[in-house]
Amino acid sequence: MCGIVGYIGANDACPFLLAGLQRLEYRGYDSAGIATLRPSDQIRVTRVAGRVADLDAAVKKKSMAGNLGIGHTRWATHGAATAENAHPHSGGNGVLSLAHNGVIENYESLKSVLQSKGYVFHSQTDSEVVAHLIAECLKLSMVKHAGEVSINCYVEAVQDAISQLRGTYGLVIVFRDQADLLIAARCGSPLVVGVGKGEQYVASDTSPLIGFTDRIIYLADHQIAVIRPDNIQVLHRDQGRIRPDIKELTADAVDVTLEGYAHYMLKEIYEQPHSITNALRGRLDKDNATAKFGGLNLTTQQLRSVERIVLTGCGTSWHSALVGEYLFEELARIPVEVEYASELRYRNPPTDRDTVIFGITQSGETADTLAALREMKRKGHHTLAICNVIGSSIAQEADGGIYLHAGPEIGVASTKAFTSQLTVLSMLALYFGRLRHLSYEAGQRIIAQLEMLPEVIQKTLECHEHVKHIAARYADATNFLYLGRKYNFPTALEGALKLKEISYIHAEGYPAAEMKHGPIALVDEHTPSVFIVPNGTVYDKVLSNLQEVKARGGPVIAIVDHEDPQVANLADEVIMIPQIEDFLQPIVASIPLQLLSYEIALLRGCDVDMPRNLAKSVTVE
Ligand code: F6R
Repeated sequence: MCGIVGYIGANDACPFLLAGLQRLEYRGYDSAGIATLRPSDQIRVTRVAGRVADLDAAVKKKSMAGNLGIGHTRWATHGAATAENAHPHSGGNGVLSLAHNGVIENYESLKSVLQSKGYVFHSQTDSEVVAHLIAECLKLSMVKHAGEVSINCYVEAVQDAISQLRGTYGLVIVFRDQADLLIAARCGSPLVVGVGKGEQYVASDTSPLIGFTDRIIYLADHQIAVIRPDNIQVLHRDQGRIRPDIKELTADAVDVTLEGYAHYMLKEIYEQPHSITNALRGRLDKDNATAKFGGLNLTTQQLRSVERIVLTGCGTSWHSALVGEYLFEELARIPVEVEYASELRYRNPPTDRDTVIFGITQSGETADTLAALREMKRKGHHTLAICNVIGSSIAQEADGGIYLHAGPEIGVASTKAFTSQLTVLSMLALYFGRLRHLSYEAGQRIIAQLEMLPEVIQKTLECHEHVKHIAARYADATNFLYLGRKYNFPTALEGALKLKEISYIHAEGYPAAEMKHGPIALVDEHTPSVFIVPNGTVYDKVLSNLQEVKARGGPVIAIVDHEDPQVANLADEVIMIPQIEDFLQPIVASIPLQLLSYEIALLRGCDVDMPRNLAKSVTVE
């Protein structure tokens, strides 16, 4: 979690640092800070408990100009969200300042040693330990190189310090006595260096670099970048100096503005016809009634021999995996296991050689998903990423994969990435199915349905005004149930997650029939149940579950896909969505659920794009 930025060059660092932190705020927004430096001066630091906007206001009241600077926006792991715990942290009484992402597991033992040497700690963070440790290593390095102090002393100090760390880090460091040196180091927390002309940038992902440079270096684990205004050296722990691989920042990294929408979440909900079009683009092979993918890195023969698929991810991406299970089983007849990445990484599932692992992730940075894929790769499995962020850690480390091309998703609650994941999973199931038993006609029918999706989603968005009225009636509820069956069981889970994460209302998703085994006890006149009850093989079953709730006086909001007098007679509210085959219903039915949680959160005065305690990218375990 947390976002890091750094700047060195001829201009004032502050504008880039503040704009960059704003773009990185989705990674954490508990507190924020910057440190800047001018030659022959002290490092100046401003830190606030609060958002980047608060930092901006605080910086404006001070003189923070400097040609070198670092910044950080935090999602608290160790220590509360206070100004003292905010980064940058100072080491060795102002000798250096650093910003850190990640978790230092052995910080307590390092802290005791440093305290015994006289270092005084002002925060509860693990990061301050790294600052003092580098200061201590610098002291030793200076002694060692007495008389010929050079940049090498500083590089050596960082190398010595990080060799003592256990855990994960992305670090940017400025030194008081080196006004033209910025050092970045990575192990487990992503860092990108932006290459400019006479100025260079660092960030924890590419978003802050857009508009500043289109040449980037992704640092890999155990690499250090020694950054000067006019050159960058990359050193690897084991290989020494290496030639940096400069990549072009792709057009996918488009600008991220609200474009007139009140919130990113709303903008992203409305972008779905477009994001789904992008997910489909170039991937439907009508002649062969199948889908096609460029980056799976498996031969057709290998793909035919896949005996089992494991789908893993966290949160919303895990819900996509659950839909994927139904899709692969039904369309491709392949056994599928869905596992939370946080569980998979510590399990030892008996998989055989022909098991393929898909990691599903919007950000491509989720620590548990990355660790689960690494573990499965270590065991010899082919790992594939279904990922949105190009060049992210998971995209780089997986053996192959498929990009969503949904564009940047800024709202913390995932919306367009979810529906793009489902679109890609549907195409994948079609593809695997066509390599096996699925008929040409069935393939063509599926393609026709997929092609309809963008238009169907556009039509579905027309329910917004109606959903807004429904939201006004139920915004004061304290509990919600979301119920659906088969493909729409994960839809129910996702609807409940959306509501709870942005409106702070307790909500539970269940397979509709399962409700009788406990949750029905929650049903009363104050607990609305959202039923997803479109036509399909389980329609009658869900209808009788709906009747069971109504019989107990629970208000019902029903999502249907046709004029349905039976549901209309029973339900308190009915939301109509267009008809589509059941395997694509989760995509369509999710739209009113996204809008419902958005409108309820607004009515409750919640911060829709940055809900409390959350961060967009969960890069800690
Ligand atoms: C919920 C949400 C989270 C993410 C989860 C995994 O709206 O966005 O539950 O789905 O943190 O993130 P990614 O997909 O980036 O791995």
